[in-house]
Amino acid sequence: MPRRMLSTAVLASSMLVASLAGCASEAAPGSSSGAPIDPEALIASRCTRCHNRSRIDAASHDASGWARIVDRMVAKGARLSEAEQAALVEHLAGR
Ligand code: HEC
Repeated sequence: MPRRMLSTAVLASSMLVASLAGCASEAAPGSSSGAPIDPEALIASRCTRCHNRSRIDAASHDASGWARIVDRMVAKGARLSEAEQAALVEHLAGR
């Protein structure tokens, strides 16, 4: 199940850290613990807050293209740990 929601303040500071460090692992603390990641569940829970899925289904990119997009979405406020981002990029690039 999704981790508990982070407060807006924590999210805002994670975004700042993410943009300064070029990495957003702080966006979801403790999530890179090796628990199995379901990319489809991530899309449903993290990627459909600002736009719907058709935006994602309509896009076709290779891994580096998806990495750029997922990075951009994280900068906008998508909550994904580094491990979740990697799993999502792999999944999206391999569709
Ligand atoms: C905080 C809001 C927000 C969240 C959460 C979000 N997005 Fe987006 N997304 C946007 C906005 C705003 C745009 C349009 C502007 C742009 O493309 O940068 C967009 C555009 C896109 C596009 C089309 C742009 C392109 O170049 O193809 C894709 C694909 C996409 N998002 C995928 C995702 C994925 C995958 C996730 C989950 C990891 C996600 N989004 C989560 C706000 C969000």
